[in-house]
Amino acid sequence: MAKFETVEEGFAAAKIDGARYHIFLCLGPDCAPMKKGEKVWKCLKELSAELKLPVMRTKAGCFRVCTGGPWMLIYPDGVWYGELTPDRCERILREHIGEGKPVAEWVVKTHPLCGAS
Ligand code: FES
Repeated sequence: MAKFETVEEGFAAAKIDGARYHIFLCLGPDCAPMKKGEKVWKCLKELSAELKLPVMRTKAGCFRVCTGGPWMLIYPDGVWYGELTPDRCERILREHIGEGKPVAEWVVKTHPLCGAS
């Protein structure tokens, strides 16, 4: 049985209309231990709600990088952060999402998927 009766209810729950960023997080197990990833997910979920950040968040099964995780990928910027911890997650949410300034020293790769080179 579906969780929502209509697609509109699902879109509302996903907070699509107010979103400016979509954050994907790989919790492991091949890039990092799942327990580590789960702690970061908890931080991401709780802090993004507490700060009322304009984000959608999604657990990614695997980005196929499979080392150096847990990985966080933020679109539309296409910014990849590795070796996430709850502390790093908090700073990324406050500075990258809250202020629009990526945390440069932790950016591992930037690759927006907009066709720009
Ligand atoms: S398990 Fe995280 S990138 Fe593959």
